[in-house]
Amino acid sequence: MKYSQIVGTGSYLPSRILTNNELAQSVDTTDEWIVERTGIHQRHIASNTDTVAGMAAAAAKQAIAAAGIDVNKIDLIVVATSTPDKFFPSTACLVQEQLGINECPAFDVGAACAGFNYALSVADNFIRGGMSKCALVIGSEIMSRIIDWNDRGTCILFADGAGAVLLEVASQPGIFSTHLHAAGQYKDLLYTPSGLHAAEPAYMKMKGSEVFKVAVTKLSLLVSEALDANKMSNSEIDWFIPHQANLRIIQATAKHLNLPMEQVVVTVGEHGNTSAASVPLALDQAIRDGRIKRGQVLLLESFGGGFAWGASLIRY
Ligand code: UT7
Repeated sequence: MKYSQIVGTGSYLPSRILTNNELAQSVDTTDEWIVERTGIHQRHIASNTDTVAGMAAAAAKQAIAAAGIDVNKIDLIVVATSTPDKFFPSTACLVQEQLGINECPAFDVGAACAGFNYALSVADNFIRGGMSKCALVIGSEIMSRIIDWNDRGTCILFADGAGAVLLEVASQPGIFSTHLHAAGQYKDLLYTPSGLHAAEPAYMKMKGSEVFKVAVTKLSLLVSEALDANKMSNSEIDWFIPHQANLRIIQATAKHLNLPMEQVVVTVGEHGNTSAASVPLALDQAIRDGRIKRGQVLLLESFGGGFAWGASLIRY
């Protein structure tokens, strides 16, 4: 049997930090409200010269360095993003060019905030099926460019960043399983118009409290599904690495898993919601600061527009 194993991680955050107090100068909100309702204190915002592909490549370079491999070993690039620099070429092709990797397949996956778990699942299945031996999986987003900065329901939440994971084929898991779902009937609760059709500006729209309720319900079912599929109990999880949308959603899912918050990687306070980048950013942070150690069991999940949601159960 073939499995995939994480051999390196990396991340990139733009240097500009936007605090709640700065936001409160332009929209009707307060630091207290944002912290109490979301757990967010600050977020990183891309500069005019940052690109989604450039941020992805920066995160990928760290992952490649951590793995200590030659870039030309990489035979697959999958990028999760909802904010590509261009409709085409794909962000993955732009990353391939920036990293100087030769002619491997490279494509993007669009599953909004769930994108990283979707991309990881695609790459894992390429490796299990024998089509890839070394896959680069990236989540990269510049959400600040699709935010309506006058909409206090979204501009306080979303932010920019990139995270990358390098996978290699292995004889043992690695990734035990991935679990993906989507339900298009919720398409009007969270969306961004394409901008090609002039009826609406291409800003994100969200019915926040309705998204919140579905997210909590679906994520609880999802994490149980991932454990049940592997006949594992919650006591076998070392680290829970959730999508960083709202601290209250994270706490509700951790409670469902009966996990203390000490075993949950939380970055939402400093990063905000970086959509497809949030899970690999959190993963990289907890690996680099020494919390996550080799051999430990990790549960990753994410939920977002579509709705689309996904989880991955992994031995690191
Ligand atoms: O990553 C993709 C998935 N996205 C999510 O998972 C996001 C899910 N949703 C959320 O995180 C939360 O719903 C929000 C943080 C967006 C909103 O929190 P909430 O507790 O659900 O608030 P609400 O929308 O029910 O609004 C409560 C009140 C309203 O005022 P009234 O009608 O009670 O007078 C809002 O107008 O809070 C008001 N409000 C604000 N007040 C100050 C909404 N946004 C703000 C704000 N500052 N930024």
